[in-house]
Amino acid sequence: MFTFRDFYQNEIRFSFSDRPFSNNPKHVWVICRFEEKWLLTKHKDRGLEFPGGKVEEGESPEDAAHREVMEETGGTIKEINYLGQYHVAGKAGHVIKNVYYAEVESLEVQDTYYETEGPVLLETIPNNVKYNNKFSFIMKDDVLTYCLEKLNK
Ligand code: GTP
Repeated sequence: MFTFRDFYQNEIRFSFSDRPFSNNPKHVWVICRFEEKWLLTKHKDRGLEFPGGKVEEGESPEDAAHREVMEETGGTIKEINYLGQYHVAGKAGHVIKNVYYAEVESLEVQDTYYETEGPVLLETIPNNVKYNNKFSFIMKDDVLTYCLEKLNK
């Protein structure tokens, strides 16, 4: 278990073990690769981030991961694997999020990308991601650092 503070000083606990906080997390986050590049989305307010969001009523977290990747990037997932789970102790309550690693097989242009401007492909995640204001606060969590290390990327 890793414990650290996020961009807003909220406490985060992150683990690679199997669903340590909840079997029913309400949020998902999907670290995506497409054609040897990172596949992100550009959130209209937060900036660049890997796709993700809330699990809807009647959906499994894996279903939500597929849906969010499609909605925010137009990507169809070829393979997805659970990586870990984290708990954010926010000011107004807590958030529990499953993190996945997904290989995307195709990208199709969408009429809408919801609250994002759609897909962005990057060769590398810059070393200064924590201080770079093009990137969303979600990318500034140590969750990303641990996951990239684990993925050997
Ligand atoms: P909407 O309900 O869709 O308007 O979004 P929201 O931002 O109000 O709610 P959400 O449940 O997505 O998140 C609530 C709070 O939890 C956010 O404001 C963040 O402080 C925190 N949070 C959610 N996801 C993350 C994350 O991946 N990392 C960090 N550090 N904080 C997060």
